[in-house]
Amino acid sequence: MVAVDLEQMRQAVKEEYAEVAENPEKGFHFHTGQALAEMLEYEPCWLEGIAAENVASFAGVGNPFIFGALKPGEFVVDAGSGAGLDSLIAGRMVGPSAHVIGIDMTQAMLDKARRGAAAMDDRRVEFRQGFLEDMPVEDGWADVVISNGVINLCPDKAAAWHEIFRILKPGGRVVILDLVKHRFEEAREMYADEWLGFAEAELESMLEKAGFANIEVGIVDRDAEAPQFQTLLATAEKPAEESQSSRPASIKIGTSA
Ligand SMILES: C[S@@+](CC[C@H](N)C(=O)[O-])C[C@H]1O[C@@H](n2cnc3c(N)ncnc32)[C@H](O)[C@@H]1O
Repeated sequence: MVAVDLEQMRQAVKEEYAEVAENPEKGFHFHTGQALAEMLEYEPCWLEGIAAENVASFAGVGNPFIFGALKPGEFVVDAGSGAGLDSLIAGRMVGPSAHVIGIDMTQAMLDKARRGAAAMDDRRVEFRQGFLEDMPVEDGWADVVISNGVINLCPDKAAAWHEIFRILKPGGRVVILDLVKHRFEEAREMYADEWLGFAEAELESMLEKAGFANIEVGIVDRDAEAPQFQTLLATAEKPAEESQSSRPASIKIGTSA
């Protein structure tokens, strides 16, 4: 196991994703932008009217809208919203009576996402700065939490799951796309163990511990040429009657992004 200082890890993640925001053409060890959106089967009509700069810095690992269509009127949190593509698409899907909050810790990503929402004059989509481990969203606010390629980057994954559970309404649901645990030595050298994604059983157990029910976890093949970047899809629900005893103690590791 490669030991990593949590603050160092956060700083490294911030620097990497500031580059994705400010210099998306640079080329990264992961796919980005329009080509990625096409690979993940984002419908061209979802991207219409969204500024090219928001599409260019897209860095998700899956398509949350195929696996969990949003309904009109739903309140949505996009946990780790990056340059805002999924939040802006979600804003359209949930319609005029709904609201979307994107949360991200990286300033350059937030700046870009906010410009994108302003360009669309979409005031129902807002972006807040924060950590997934301590989200600036009130208890029980969201009908749906989506997260695309982010939780593998969180130093305290249990705290992130707990926060997702907290901000959901009873009966609310999550649609999470993240990396399958890498089994490749070169990846272990490139990233710390903490960034290596999840095994299916591990993800299921984390969701259970956070209090979720109706948990489904599966692997989605998205890039046959790069099996180290297979995606895990997890969907789950917060029980309608929340059992306080099943909630883990809050683990807070930092409060300012
Ligand atoms: C792989 S990108 C995905 C962004 C976006 N979901 C998308 O699909 O384009 C990861 C994003 O998560 C953010 N991030 C990583 N760890 C975070 C944390 N602990 N709290 C908040 N944001 C985090 C990064 O700043 C980055 O914008």
